[in-house]
Amino acid sequence: MGARIRDLLGAERPIFGFGMDPEVAIAASRAGGVGIWGCTRRTPEEIEEGISRMKAALGDLPWGVDLVIPAGMPETDDRSAIESTLPEAHVAFVERMRHRYEVPDDGLPGMRSRFVRSEETARDQLAVVMDHRIPLLALGVGSPTWAVEQAHEQGSMIVSLVGRPAHAETAIRAGADILVAQGTDSGGHTGPIGTFTLVPLVVEAAGGRPVLAAGGVATGRHLAAAMALGADGVWIGTALLASEEAAPSPVLLDKLLAAGVTDTVISRSVSGKTFRMLRSSWSDEWSAEGAPEPLKMPHQDILIGDLLGQVMRHEVAPLVHEGAGQGVVHLTDQEPVATIIDRLVAEAEQVLGRVSD
Ligand SMILES: Cc1cc2nc3c(=O)[nH]c(=O)nc-3n(C[C@H](O)[C@H](O)[C@H](O)COP(=O)(O)O)c2cc1C
Repeated sequence: MGARIRDLLGAERPIFGFGMDPEVAIAASRAGGVGIWGCTRRTPEEIEEGISRMKAALGDLPWGVDLVIPAGMPETDDRSAIESTLPEAHVAFVERMRHRYEVPDDGLPGMRSRFVRSEETARDQLAVVMDHRIPLLALGVGSPTWAVEQAHEQGSMIVSLVGRPAHAETAIRAGADILVAQGTDSGGHTGPIGTFTLVPLVVEAAGGRPVLAAGGVATGRHLAAAMALGADGVWIGTALLASEEAAPSPVLLDKLLAAGVTDTVISRSVSGKTFRMLRSSWSDEWSAEGAPEPLKMPHQDILIGDLLGQVMRHEVAPLVHEGAGQGVVHLTDQEPVATIIDRLVAEAEQVLGRVSD
């Protein structure tokens, strides 16, 4: 299983493990997979530090980083320019949420509001990444040609996340080397097409390029099914959310382990784009009658970023949530990343053996 990924990247196992903490990615690569650090919400200095950590920990093992560079963002990282356009009714709604749930105002921004997602930030982030000549650069939500070209010049392979066959074609035109077919089941930004439907369509559109299946892959049965659908491997996020290395806060860990299959929702309330996350009072408030329509990215980030940061820092339980996919139903214990990856592979091998019997 996974010969193509082994030949291409030297990974023993065709499992790409996405995490927002470098420790998750490091553990995924050490477990024989390919660890991917999602650093789109990190400053250039933090990216420098995280990449140095990964390089030192991983040596020749395959790994990569993920940036999100959507089209149509403002030119500069200018928070006050965005703030001056926020509608009063939206600001008042957010303030009412703060009072209703008694969220302490510690005066600090959150992950989404400490800088504005802008072309300036994307260029600064990419400059740091490119200084390091990393093996893989993954691009979620859009694959701009300028970023792909820079990465190729440095010898990095480009992995593009796509949610529709048409996005696969655009990513290939931009120069993508590997495609991730990410179905609607997935956590984080996601489209409307289910993984089972999407993967074979992206395999057809990929023109022979490797394809990874993402969205709902949380057991070895999913890994085996992904290979049967024509994928060369899988890309997982939710399955690692409750891991020891991800180290979620106690309130978030409880919610992740307790979540059932209908406990995620797609909402524009955190970033302005459709994002699958744990259902909580946060998503309920934003979908209640009379709630304002979330703003577009990056305005929604700035509208809610400080409040959400404070919710998470102070663990305001009803509002605490995280991006999470439908596979969250399979999380039952806090385990090391290696245990999760070992189990996926062992179960997939068993299932594939059964299928070929
Ligand atoms: C909390 C969370 C944050 C995410 N952030 C990003 C991101 O910054 N960039 C990205 O390309 N994908 C992001 N994703 C999507 C993952 O890369 C991956 O495609 C997805 O988790 C796969 O589906 P699964 O969650 O069902 O495993 C995120 C997913 C989660 C759960």
